[in-house]
Amino acid sequence: MKKICVLVSGGGTNLQALIDAEKSGIIKNGKITCVISSKEGAYALERAKNAGIGTVVIPRKEYADSRSYSEAILAELNRQGADLVVLAGFMVILDECVTKAYPYRIINVHPALIPSFCGEGFYGLKVHEKALEYGVKVSGATIHFVNEKADAGAIILQGAVDVANDETPESLQKKIMENVEWKLLPKAVSLFCEDRISIKDGKAYVDDLTQEEMRAYRGSLTEPGKPSPYRDRSVEENLQLFQDMRDGKFADGSKTLRAKIDMASPNMNL
Ligand code: GAR
Repeated sequence: MKKICVLVSGGGTNLQALIDAEKSGIIKNGKITCVISSKEGAYALERAKNAGIGTVVIPRKEYADSRSYSEAILAELNRQGADLVVLAGFMVILDECVTKAYPYRIINVHPALIPSFCGEGFYGLKVHEKALEYGVKVSGATIHFVNEKADAGAIILQGAVDVANDETPESLQKKIMENVEWKLLPKAVSLFCEDRISIKDGKAYVDDLTQEEMRAYRGSLTEPGKPSPYRDRSVEENLQLFQDMRDGKFADGSKTLRAKIDMASPNMNL
């Protein structure tokens, strides 16, 4: 069981998604063992306490510079024995003393489709303001590994939403959180804990993620009413289906993944 430390700064809805996913078994082989906040009074701390998870506050404002702050974070991560570090709305850019100590072991959620609207200065609502200012027609979120450059590490998963004509930064933020972040962050964490992510030439690849599976994840992100063969299936149901396949529960003689999906869900209309 991998030990997961989650770093937060604010409301913690992504942390909540992780807590819920751990409870419902979506996160396999991983346990959130500690939540570290860069701000006292962050609501994320309440969420952790309500779930019985230990919390530590390391206030950014008490440190003179990024290096000394990052050293304090590193010491705590080491003390916790973290196998995986998740930045879930953590609004501090960590110095390379942390990223070098945890290569391909820190995962971040960024509320845009990297390489758009990312890097220093792009965080929280600002990201959505910039996307709308530019006039993009789709936006989304990216789950990626963290390296020494802001938002530049290997991408694990991405999901997109349509941008409506009357979109506001707030409505876009909500749409992306609900449809992408809260689903893909737990998914990526589970993939990591299950050792299903491999790295080649600095890029991340999800092992065993078939085209069908990828389409299912994408489809489950589609808004209701939009055409998608999987739109009536939640991420959780899709994950269960694919897990059942991997566990060999469809030992029915069907030869292809598609046949297995059809059998499991005749109405899926692939
Ligand atoms: C989320 O939208 C997350 O993607 C974003 O801040 C929000 C935090 O919300 N993170 C960044 O902008 C990092 N560059 P939460 O505290 O409710 O999870």
